[in-house]
Amino acid sequence: MRVLVTGAAGFIGSTTAELLLDEGHDVVALDDLSSGARANVPPRAHFVEGRCGDATLVEGLGPFDACVHFAGRIEPAISMERPEVFFDVNVAQTLQLLRALVEGGCPRVVFSSSAAVYGNQVAMPIDEDQPVSPESPYGESKLAIERALHWLCDRGRLRAASLRYFNAAGATPAHPERHAPEIHLIPLALDAALGRRDGLDLYGDDYPTHDGTCVRDYVHVSDLARAHSLAIAALADHRELVLNLGSGVGHSNREVIDAVRAVTGVDFAVRVAPRRSGDPAEAVASNDRARAMLGWTIEHASLEGIVADAFEARRNVA
Ligand SMILES: NC(=O)c1ccc[n+]([C@@H]2O[C@H](COP(=O)([O-])OP(=O)(O)OC[C@H]3O[C@@H](n4cnc5c(N)ncnc54)[C@H](O)[C@@H]3O)[C@@H](O)[C@H]2O)c1
Repeated sequence: MRVLVTGAAGFIGSTTAELLLDEGHDVVALDDLSSGARANVPPRAHFVEGRCGDATLVEGLGPFDACVHFAGRIEPAISMERPEVFFDVNVAQTLQLLRALVEGGCPRVVFSSSAAVYGNQVAMPIDEDQPVSPESPYGESKLAIERALHWLCDRGRLRAASLRYFNAAGATPAHPERHAPEIHLIPLALDAALGRRDGLDLYGDDYPTHDGTCVRDYVHVSDLARAHSLAIAALADHRELVLNLGSGVGHSNREVIDAVRAVTGVDFAVRVAPRRSGDPAEAVASNDRARAMLGWTIEHASLEGIVADAFEARRNVA
């Protein structure tokens, strides 16, 4: 297949593009390099620097058999300060992309949604039938595109899978996680262990969890990448899919810190700071539907294994 991968210079997009190339697909990698790195793009892909919202550019690059759409802004906390940026990039530009794909006859779209569409849920694990209630413009922007895709599918304009990732983690050697600003716990803790930052802030140790720190679901980026390939294939049989992508297992922030200390052998400083507003105590996925609909399995279940892969990739980048 000829596949358009937007955001292919980013963490999950580059890893998925590499897998699609390994599987024999032709990959056109579109990224404006606003946060991604050119070096992340697999050399075998045809790289185009540009905005995903540039409909003329996208139409000119087609036709495509499928599009996997990763491009976007990803920081919920920044979206609370600058919602307009998130609605521009994640909604307005994505709608332009979808229009270009529909008009160019692209039949399948796989969209990077997020667990942020659920907001603060109490019942764990979270399955796809639980109510959506975003707590940030970031989550709202993801939900807006899910709804647009729903109607495009309903009206027979294309087939789409919205994949709600929980916490993407781990790495493959060629594609380290590097966000600027970095907001994710594992790379922040690894940087503390590598002496690249002065310790780690732990936001809240008085949550109603087994050790008082927030519990999250870490899913290896290689497992995520495989789910995208499976989703492209599954859209041959399904008009619309909305699926959680998580490991199904929760780990507390303290457990992650212990895993980073064990993997790196460095006992870096941890400062307990006040809770951040909007952080739910717990967010763990039910991945039953993704297993059933895609035949997806988790191949990287060990937290220490995930941290070790992230460490190997991260220690080699500046
Ligand atoms: N990392 C996670 O844990 C996580 C969790 C849930 C959902 N997601 C979603 O997955 C997707 C990928 O996340 P990631 O961690 O790889 O992020 P990332 O920041 O590493 O990658 C995003 C890429 O998109 C590019 N980009 C941004 N705006 C663009 C535009 N208008 N046109 C073209 N390219 C543009 C950036 O340059 C970057 O390379 C995002 O949509 C994110 O919201 C990520």
